[in-house]
Amino acid sequence: MSDLIDKMEAALSEALADLDAAADEKSIEEIKIRMLGRKGFLPAAMKEIKNVSNEEKPLIGKVANKVKTELNNKISEKLDALEDSGSAVDGIDVTIPGRQRKIGKKHLITRVIDDCVTIFRRMGFVVVDGPELEDEYHNFDALNTPADHPSRDSQDTFYLLDGRLLRTQTSPVQIRTMEKQDPPVRIVCPGRCFRRDTPDATHSMNFSQIEGLHIDTNISMADLKGTLLMFAQEMFGEDVEIRMRPHFFPFTEPSIECDVLFRNFKGGKDSWLEIFGAGMVDPNVLTNVGYDPEKVTGYAFGLGIERIAMLKYDIPDIRYLYENDIRFLEQF
Ligand code: DAH
Repeated sequence: MSDLIDKMEAALSEALADLDAAADEKSIEEIKIRMLGRKGFLPAAMKEIKNVSNEEKPLIGKVANKVKTELNNKISEKLDALEDSGSAVDGIDVTIPGRQRKIGKKHLITRVIDDCVTIFRRMGFVVVDGPELEDEYHNFDALNTPADHPSRDSQDTFYLLDGRLLRTQTSPVQIRTMEKQDPPVRIVCPGRCFRRDTPDATHSMNFSQIEGLHIDTNISMADLKGTLLMFAQEMFGEDVEIRMRPHFFPFTEPSIECDVLFRNFKGGKDSWLEIFGAGMVDPNVLTNVGYDPEKVTGYAFGLGIERIAMLKYDIPDIRYLYENDIRFLEQF
């Protein structure tokens, strides 16, 4: 056998061993160029074929083919293996630490709404929704609020040119629900309201309320009181007390305001703070939606979400809730 064949066999085994040891795409590519490239080993060896005898020429051709096939097979095998292990996938370094994504969270107002709704749901209330853009009928007339009521003044309410308005309270959802369904009704309606208030620490032109309405046979003020007390205890803790004071709302008769007693309020003395407006639904309201006030009665209540949020989380100014300063929002 000629020296040339020995040389080719030796170069092949060396290259195969190098390929075995190669750990990345670049070293594999280098071996390929060294052996098979235009100026590599195999083309150079083929040039020497003119120096061997005619009988040996076909044998050398065979060995040359073997070198080429074995190398090519080994190279693709290695590249496949590397790709599977992932350590040399083009452009991806799997050893770099992951990129952390900042996940947002619920705004405090949304969170307080969710908390309130959870409490009311456990007491059997169903959540309903209503439009923020209302008409005078649902926001005022049907709620027994006469045309000369001060809240209907354009100084207090945002009107559109066509006479519609931004709802000043969530109470119109009471009307919309009763128009659609027969008693019994037991709903809460969270949502945004709008009033032409001058913004200060406790007023915002845009705020949120939760409305409650419970209509059935034999509903009394005792049911109202039980519901408000239960809510206050769930929201602020077992040791709170509530008290009801007479008040006036056009759509309830009698009407009350309900205060919650906070013990050691802000580290000081026990304080009564107003939380709810409420009352027994006025018979006129029931008549307006086609209910029979001789057959059904009910109570209604409204509470301010921002007020609950401010009391519960000790927030001194309502405007913080609307400025969307991340440093403030992140605290909750
Ligand atoms: N809508 C009243 C307000 O915005 C709050 C209210 C009071 C709602 C008494 C009621 C209620 O349902 O019965 O001031």
